[in-house]
Amino acid sequence: MDASTDRPRVFVARVIPEDGLAPIRSACEADVWEGDGPPPRAELLRRVAGCAGILSLLTDRVDDELLDAAGPGLRVVSNFAVGYDNVDVAACARRGVAVGNTPGVLTESTADLAFALILAAARRVAEGDRFVRAGRWTTWGPMLLLGTEVHGATLGIVGLGRIGQAVARRAAGFGMTVLYHGRTRAPEAVEAALGATWVGLDELLTRSDVVSLHVPLTPGTRGLIDARALARMRPTAILVNTARGPIVDGAALAAALRDGTIAGAGLDVTDPEPIRPDDPLLGLDNCIVVPHIASATRATRGRMAQMAAANLLAGVRGEPLPTPVEPPMIGR
Ligand code: GLV
Repeated sequence: MDASTDRPRVFVARVIPEDGLAPIRSACEADVWEGDGPPPRAELLRRVAGCAGILSLLTDRVDDELLDAAGPGLRVVSNFAVGYDNVDVAACARRGVAVGNTPGVLTESTADLAFALILAAARRVAEGDRFVRAGRWTTWGPMLLLGTEVHGATLGIVGLGRIGQAVARRAAGFGMTVLYHGRTRAPEAVEAALGATWVGLDELLTRSDVVSLHVPLTPGTRGLIDARALARMRPTAILVNTARGPIVDGAALAAALRDGTIAGAGLDVTDPEPIRPDDPLLGLDNCIVVPHIASATRATRGRMAQMAAANLLAGVRGEPLPTPVEPPMIGR
């Protein structure tokens, strides 16, 4: 609380759309980090001291060190993302700090980008663009830039949550056969509505022309797509990752793309982020990399900002968050 104004002090770790900043500024003493990139760690630790709320981004690690630096007055961490692998939710729960995220509002834009990457990787769109710009387009070529067909192909969705389901709906328009894998099976009605069939991961990898990842990053999904998994895929297959970079073993993927184990990849997320300029993936024509932009439309980012602000404001007032992250059972 700021003693001179009685308004709660909050730290907002990046400039977000006005839809979220305006309500935060009108209710709180808001310290907004104006830098282009994330606040350096030391600056973040310094700026959160004494705050009742923190609006964090997926680039900010929220752990015991940060919670210590904020101090006992901290009531809420509102993460401007649906994923929250950057937040130690158990550590927050132990201190009675509520955690919020932004589910639902970015589902459709993320599915749009997953489909953009599926099409771009399968039909070699980025490679074709580079080809033209390099002045190499001399004639229509019967053998030029042949790709993988998307319509009628088999799509393997790993993780049939909100975003996975939205990708499956798009696949119906392309007449695709949809397989999915997840720890638990979706209700029969969902499977039927999507025309999606549950299979084991190995079967999904073996049968799919396109594999699209939609699981959260957890200890169980880190490195899920490793050399062994890639070896199960078809030489004509495409891998798309709009989930989290560490779900895929980047070195193994680079080797698989280079050796023709699979045909192409479309990545919105990498490990680390940003990808290092000398990462072997960037030297491969059959790999498309975009800078973690799946939710990056003006409308979606505006909705995420409103939602993150609503969580932050509810939290500093000691009210239930509109979209809370439930703490894990272990460590509570
Ligand atoms: C983006 O990756 C998000 O989790 O919202």
